[in-house]
Amino acid sequence: MKKYQGTIAAVCSLAIAVTSFNSTAAPKTKPNLHPEDFSGFPDFGYMVSEATYDEKYSDHPVFRLKTDFPSKKPKKKRLPKVLKIDFQKEPMKYLDTVKQYCLEGNTPSWDPYKNNKRDWYHIPWLHPSSSTYPPNGGTEGFHGLIKEAPAGPYQLHNTQTNSYQVYAVTLINEYAGYTMGQMWKDKNNPDPKATDTRFGGGFPVGTVFCKLLFADVQPDDNQVPYLKNPIDWQGYITESWDSPVRSVRHLRLLQMDIMVRDKRAEPWMGWVLGTFAYNGELNDRNCKGKENDTACRFNNLVPLGLQFGDDPEVTENIINAYPYTETKINPNIKESIINTSKDLPPQHLGWGMRLNGPADLNTSSCMSCHTAAQYPQITPLVPPFATVANGFAPTPGAGDKDWMKFFINIAAATSADPRAYSTDFSLQVSMSLENFAEAKKKTEEGYWSVEYGVAEKGVSRGQQESHK
Ligand code: HEC
Repeated sequence: MKKYQGTIAAVCSLAIAVTSFNSTAAPKTKPNLHPEDFSGFPDFGYMVSEATYDEKYSDHPVFRLKTDFPSKKPKKKRLPKVLKIDFQKEPMKYLDTVKQYCLEGNTPSWDPYKNNKRDWYHIPWLHPSSSTYPPNGGTEGFHGLIKEAPAGPYQLHNTQTNSYQVYAVTLINEYAGYTMGQMWKDKNNPDPKATDTRFGGGFPVGTVFCKLLFADVQPDDNQVPYLKNPIDWQGYITESWDSPVRSVRHLRLLQMDIMVRDKRAEPWMGWVLGTFAYNGELNDRNCKGKENDTACRFNNLVPLGLQFGDDPEVTENIINAYPYTETKINPNIKESIINTSKDLPPQHLGWGMRLNGPADLNTSSCMSCHTAAQYPQITPLVPPFATVANGFAPTPGAGDKDWMKFFINIAAATSADPRAYSTDFSLQVSMSLENFAEAKKKTEEGYWSVEYGVAEKGVSRGQQESHK
């Protein structure tokens, strides 16, 4: 059985709120309480002690999960404008439009409570570290950053010899929020049918996910030139990828990932995935006169590309091996479209030059991981041996029949393994249900039959082995 470490952290985060009530003296300042704080979900899994926060970090935010999901599907007129743009004819315009939608009202803080333009939400139950991957994972308490993946030498740039860790935080729009409301109507009994088409579930057209990814590049580190003029956050994160010890460390914005549920993509999968890379070398041009303004610095996110299919027919075993100096485009790949602008720092992309971001492997693709999203997580996200050469050479034998099972096109809300519920391309939903089930096993002192006989793989990015 997997270890569950989240309950203590969960209780702690509740304790922060409760102690404010117990105080007998009248509070000097307005208490930091909001009705949503008692949503029934813990906000985060790891945080400095309250005393340390008060003493050293009181000018930093405390992450508040937002889960006041709408009970009705939002009206048609609220559909994001991006659905009017043709993702094949005008891919960069598509990406720019969804980027503006993601940023509007959410910058500079990425705090959906501060957005007065639109409602955005978080996915609950990402706080504990109950899954086997990543090591010592779960969300931290300043920004809600979840531990994500290691970035080894030369992965980000040809002058980079340091290894970094990547952390991320995702906001989901009101259409996605509606589906999460259906899933978590009863907070003690989530319904995985809400994202599976066999039960009438699935995220509605108009769903948008926006995810910011940060690398723990410290202030005196210049190894990744395009991460100058950074958006710099501090998070309570592990000291290195394998370390269980957390401390407050700096992180710089590296990448933004998006997913859009778009009807026009239904001949492939019904989803358009896209990504942006941060390029701080453009700061003087993009933020003239407001070079230090964080909200403006989000303009330094350059579209990298989008993907609406996984090109299942293309079996060429080629990668842009580390260290690389340019972005290579494979003309045979038709279902990923990559930006050719000089504004984009050199990219390694994914397997066969399918779409993948700086933080991702060059032997997978956005879609190959996300088509596997299901609960319980039976289908692995990446092929075995994907990380064997650590990005420095193609995986021997990649492209054979077994490998190509990871590069498929499947319809939205359809599970790649019929024994599991589809979580409709959302791996956060898959993780949240797994975390919930693990915690429930502890409190109910029992097990779930649904997890037996299916050899669960968990949500692993397949990089653990490569770092040993
Ligand atoms: C190696 C597997 C892998 C690859 C490759 C990958 N992802 Fe993910 N992605 C994940 C996992 C695991 C999560 C859930 C944990 C988290 O939030 O980071 C996730 C989360 C996300 C989310 C948040 C919504 C959700 O629950 O799925 C978005 C958006 C996203 N990825 C987009 C992308 C895009 C765009 C790409 C390519 C540029 C990409 N991903 C490549 C594994 C992957």
